[in-house]
Amino acid sequence: MRLENKVAVITGGANGLGKEMSLRFASEGAKVVAVDMAELDYKHDTVEGYKLNVTDTEACKEFFDYVVDKYGQIDILVNNAGITRDAMTRKMTDEQWNLVIDVNLKGVFNLTRHIGPQMENIGGGSIINISSVVGEYGNIGQANYAATKAGILGLTKTWAKEFARKGVPVRVNAIAPGYIMTDILKTVPQDLLDKFASMTMLKRLGEPKEIANVALFLASEEASYVTGHTMSVNGGMRL
Ligand SMILES: NC(=O)c1ccc[n+]([C@@H]2O[C@H](COP(=O)([O-])OP(=O)(O)OC[C@H]3O[C@@H](n4cnc5c(N)ncnc54)[C@H](O)[C@@H]3O)[C@@H](O)[C@H]2O)c1
Repeated sequence: MRLENKVAVITGGANGLGKEMSLRFASEGAKVVAVDMAELDYKHDTVEGYKLNVTDTEACKEFFDYVVDKYGQIDILVNNAGITRDAMTRKMTDEQWNLVIDVNLKGVFNLTRHIGPQMENIGGGSIINISSVVGEYGNIGQANYAATKAGILGLTKTWAKEFARKGVPVRVNAIAPGYIMTDILKTVPQDLLDKFASMTMLKRLGEPKEIANVALFLASEEASYVTGHTMSVNGGMRL
């Protein structure tokens, strides 16, 4: 029970990595609020679904007030909601560019601007931002996505400094997953997925639980001296 009595907010909690982390954190004793635009298709005694578009600034503030009012405080935030809208740069539309920047960057800012300072006030917390191997190395056809996932690494290092500046242990870390089998990969052709698997040292794609394990570590006291760090969880991949 590594997260007993902790309150965790996990964005993009209806599917894929967010669903896996929500259930895993709950199984370790956390009360989880799983935020998503979609309804949850699963049930757990200590996971509450909350419908929210993380790009909606006012709705994010209302959500923050709701959670603090209901649960008292927020100890863990996982900024996981993210999307892709891939295209070669010369063909990328304003809509594709803006939507990815909005969800993957502004969405992260929208909740952290409230929850980070709240963690300073309550005396600590753990923020985990989900980046990507694409943010570390870049990828053809993903200029918008790569920009946001590299931006998340800058936010992580900045917030690790900013929220701990008064000596309060608010830890901020990023996870940069490689290719993990979830819906986000459903538009990627199988031959490309096979190629990505062959580019890893372990010669396979990852599973959602392999990201949830690392997130659990970073959320827990076991990682009490880890902050401002990026964990690359990609089977040994370099794009
Ligand atoms: N799966 C991978 O291979 C992989 C690799 C690297 C990074 N990531 C990152 O991991 C995170 C989770 O991805 P996933 O693979 O679970 O994808 P997914 O598509 O299975 O799940 C993403 C979830 O985010 C939600 N979401 C999207 N836009 C939202 C918004 N505006 N407000 C609230 N919720 C929103 C979706 O409804 C969905 O439930 C993303 O940030 C993604 O970029 C995934």
